[in-house]
Amino acid sequence: MTKTNQNSLAVLILAAGQGVRMKSSKPKVLHKICGKPMIYYTIKVAKMLNPSEIFVVTGFGSKDVAQEIKKFGVRSIVQEEQLGTGHAVKISIPCIKDFDDLLLLYGDMPLIKSTDLELLLRDFWATGSSVSILSTAVKPPSDFGRIIRDSKNEFAEIIEELDATPEQCRIGEVNTGIYCFRISDLLEVLEEINNKNAKGEYYITDCVNMLRKRGKKVSVMVAPDSTNFIGINSRVHLVQANAVMRGEICERLMDSGVTIIDPATTYIDDEVEIGQDTIIYPYTYITGQTRVSSDCTIGPNTFVSDSVIGNRTTIAYSVVKGSEVMDDCNVGPYSHLRPGSVVMKGGKVGSFCEIKKSVIREGAKVPHLSYVGDADIGANANVGAGTITCNYDGFNKHKTVVGEGSFIGSDTMLVAPVRIGKNATTGAGSVISKDVPDGALAIERSDQKNILGWDKIREKKAEKRLKKG
Ligand code: UD1
Ligand code: MG
Repeated sequence: MTKTNQNSLAVLILAAGQGVRMKSSKPKVLHKICGKPMIYYTIKVAKMLNPSEIFVVTGFGSKDVAQEIKKFGVRSIVQEEQLGTGHAVKISIPCIKDFDDLLLLYGDMPLIKSTDLELLLRDFWATGSSVSILSTAVKPPSDFGRIIRDSKNEFAEIIEELDATPEQCRIGEVNTGIYCFRISDLLEVLEEINNKNAKGEYYITDCVNMLRKRGKKVSVMVAPDSTNFIGINSRVHLVQANAVMRGEICERLMDSGVTIIDPATTYIDDEVEIGQDTIIYPYTYITGQTRVSSDCTIGPNTFVSDSVIGNRTTIAYSVVKGSEVMDDCNVGPYSHLRPGSVVMKGGKVGSFCEIKKSVIREGAKVPHLSYVGDADIGANANVGAGTITCNYDGFNKHKTVVGEGSFIGSDTMLVAPVRIGKNATTGAGSVISKDVPDGALAIERSDQKNILGWDKIREKKAEKRLKKG
């Protein structure tokens, strides 16, 4: 956002609460929504505003939260005891006092939008207020502080639900808890708040009320969509927020040219990128740091995580983790690409195959029922049905190399370490434990014996058995 004035802006994100109703040993803000800890979303939106600095107030599990938010390049402030939202701001004074303005946000409100915050900041700067409050209309308005207006419809005060009269409780305009303060004015009242209220906490809302009482300008901006301000307090809320976020991600991708056959059964993480004209079939997860290029078909029933998928590639009924599948490839149905695997252009991993830490080079095929681990399969090689790389001797893993253009017969056991030359062939059912030179045929099985007239012999045996009764 381009600022409409030159004031320095600090963002303070409150995230010290344990989230008792989550019933978890993990801090609430580290619970994940679409693959990311929920605090990531507040930080992401805050960053879109280009503030001078972002601080996060941590408390319960502060070490874990601090470690997580370090990744996003923001600083944390520890609130040892959670004595209320006002207290959280108070202990942050040493960090925020030298900025002009303060935007207050929450780590457990992952659905907030930068557009709402821009609206608030514009109002704050345009009106020259001491504080601008972001309100919204909620039906029923439970759990929130209510916005009380006077006879001229101007802001009068914020009353917390627990401190409100039944009549005040019926007011539908609520406090989102998001405000922008002029810091010099905030500092004047922050030292004066007390905890004489129903919750016994220091309320930041008291600062707003005090500024109003002192005749400072207080404005209210009404945000149009109240669903953006859902606070996560329980696992039920977590699932609800996940569903909303998931819908938003699918819509964003559809708007950019991706077909999602059934968004209700498609689970795509926030940072996933997908190219135009790719089609996602139902019951598909695309998670983590994954990039899918254009014109692909992914799913149904597919799980892709932390992987890169090229153009025009098809993956069906399969699991792909930490791997790269390049252009024009086919994976599945029912295959598993484990981390460190690469399928190069035009490669095929067909049905019921497991590939681990291996390279399937250009045009190579592993079409049916194989285990390929710690292997390098050369370009245009064909690995026959049921081939297994025996890569583990019980102690160590060993490598298998198959030269380009080779033909590995069905049910070959490649006992690693072993190297098959270029354009070599192995006979079906062979246990290959020695290297095979370029162009050679390696066959390892006993010679076939044909016993003639076996059908007659069988008949006689059967007759004898019948006579015996
Ligand atoms: C607050 C507002 C209320 C508003 C609501 C919107 C106050 C007094 N009330 O109430 O008007 O409608 O938000 O959701 O501010 N936190 C800390 N340290 C603390 C206390 C809280 O970091 O000592 C954090 C919590 O982790 C949480 C957030 O601040 O993320 C809100 O605190 P909470 O106690 O849930 O306030 P509400 O009762 O929801
Ligand atoms: Mg709350």
